[in-house]
Amino acid sequence: MNKKTILITGGAGFIGSHVVRVFVNKYPNYNIVNLDALTYAGNLHNLEDIEGKENYTFVKLDITNRDAVNNLFKEHQFDGVIHLAAESHVDRSIHDPIGCAETNVIGTINLLTAARDTWRDGDGYQSKRFYQVSTDEVYGSLKNDGSLFMETTAYDPRSPYSASKASADHFVRAYQHTFNMPIVISNCSNNYGSHQFPEKLIPLFIYNIYEGKKLPVYGNGKNIRDWLYVVDHAKAIDIIYHQGINGETYNIGGLNEWENLDLIKLLCKVMDKKLGKATGTSEQLIEFVKDRPGHDARYAIDASKIQSELGWQPEQTFETGLEETVDWYLSNLDWLQQVTSGEYQKYYDKQYS
Ligand code: NAD
Ligand code: DAU
Repeated sequence: MNKKTILITGGAGFIGSHVVRVFVNKYPNYNIVNLDALTYAGNLHNLEDIEGKENYTFVKLDITNRDAVNNLFKEHQFDGVIHLAAESHVDRSIHDPIGCAETNVIGTINLLTAARDTWRDGDGYQSKRFYQVSTDEVYGSLKNDGSLFMETTAYDPRSPYSASKASADHFVRAYQHTFNMPIVISNCSNNYGSHQFPEKLIPLFIYNIYEGKKLPVYGNGKNIRDWLYVVDHAKAIDIIYHQGINGETYNIGGLNEWENLDLIKLLCKVMDKKLGKATGTSEQLIEFVKDRPGHDARYAIDASKIQSELGWQPEQTFETGLEETVDWYLSNLDWLQQVTSGEYQKYYDKQYS
């Protein structure tokens, strides 16, 4: 029997590396091809534990390069695509909306078109799947009134990043309606865990506390996010890829809402304990700074559909997940130093050229 070949895009990034790890280890009967442009956010050190595995291949490629994407699809005849590659940081998207749109929108259309063409010219859409990994930010911003994002909530993106992800999702659905593509989409809340680039709140603040630097809290710190352990997200992606229904959307969330300031104070306490400092030491680093333009007030997910239809539940509790995350960064200070200095970007040339 021929092995299935699955393309995972953005697999050298934070969530993508966890998804690649799950698929390579759990499915020896799949060939996993990890496509990544290795931007500042992509780091092959994230995958050192699996890079020698027989069912794993890495390809350095930019999804905005249409010809290269088409050639890759012709070469590998993928059975499925799990698409995570993106410019993922809201603050960067505010500084460079066009760069963000090029990768998130045009890159997604390039992948959709290449998948459509190779599948239509080959043995059709039977047992094929294009899985778009999206975000809860496409739904906009909630009031602090107990309301939740449902799969039926209308899109209302408010940052260049979320507008680009919303646009990409619309193209994915358009390819289903127009070309009958077998697609599935998931919208997930904020992830935390190992290997996250220290521009995002939790790894940035762990790094700053370790270095004794200030903790820049945007605005009044009252914005709310729903935090999910990254491995729980990777497991949800596995379940949706295999059991989700074509054309459906699944919301994924941690059922775990925190005001930024409360979360930061908890993180400070954990760091004080781990670094052997008196409780209250790290909190003194908190500094309120100018708010992010258009800062969304609250995200919160209703995850009842994936729970009842596909049997997924978050397994990690926030308190243990946060401690494990802090432990990982403190035992991988060389990783943190490399990514903050840019040193990791030499790794590809050493290993693959
Ligand atoms: P990340 O920034 O850590 O990783 C993105 C990866 O994409 C990097 O490896 C980067 O090199 C690669 N990439 C960027 N531009 C590319 C291009 N033009 N061609 C090929 N590869 C390119 O991002 P992440 O936080 O792991 O997010 C992964 C996906 O999950 C994104 O689509 C994001 O929108 C979505 N998501 C993230 C979160 C979160 O909390 N981080 C939550 C929900 C959904
Ligand atoms: O909700 C899912 C989204 O979560 C993903 O789609 C995005 O890719 C991911 O980056 C994340 O977006 P956020 O903007 O919510 O994450 P970030 O870590 O940048 O910020 C979390 C909260 O903390 C947010 O309210 C802004 C605030 N913040 C962030 C940073 C980096 C600060 O107060 N200070 C900071 O320095």
